[in-house]
Amino acid sequence: QQTNDSLAAVLAAHPPAPGALLPLLHALQDSLGHVPPEAVPAIAEHLNLSRAEVHGVISYYHFFRQQPPGRAVLQVCRAEACQSRGAEALLAHAEARLGCTSHSTRADGAVTLEPVYCLGLCASSPALMLNERLHARMSAAKLDALLEKEGL
Ligand code: FES
Repeated sequence: QQTNDSLAAVLAAHPPAPGALLPLLHALQDSLGHVPPEAVPAIAEHLNLSRAEVHGVISYYHFFRQQPPGRAVLQVCRAEACQSRGAEALLAHAEARLGCTSHSTRADGAVTLEPVYCLGLCASSPALMLNERLHARMSAAKLDALLEKEGL
């Protein structure tokens, strides 16, 4: 029911227009935490697009989740500035520490790990975001402390 209500509200707020799809998908993910595959037909019909077009956009942008996220979401920046300061090692550390690979949710549903591409903290890289909160100049040890605090 929440999915239907949220979908109806998001569709109403995004009338059909060129370029309406991306803002609509962002709004739906903001509202539900993901873009459910079962919403694709209604979105396609609303915007007069094919289902394949809508699905193509959702799968092209890794930002859009097709499954609900875990209770916590850890996003590790992999863009250039962070890469040059150890983002890959940090992401590998996060995978080992949490016991799940990037783009996936741990089996107990506690946490989803996602790579992201620039969090706007390039000057203080490497950066990550845990539950919508930004953290700069990260290290494996600082990440461990942060996760510890969250009980992860
Ligand atoms: Fe990581 Fe910009 S490159 S915050």
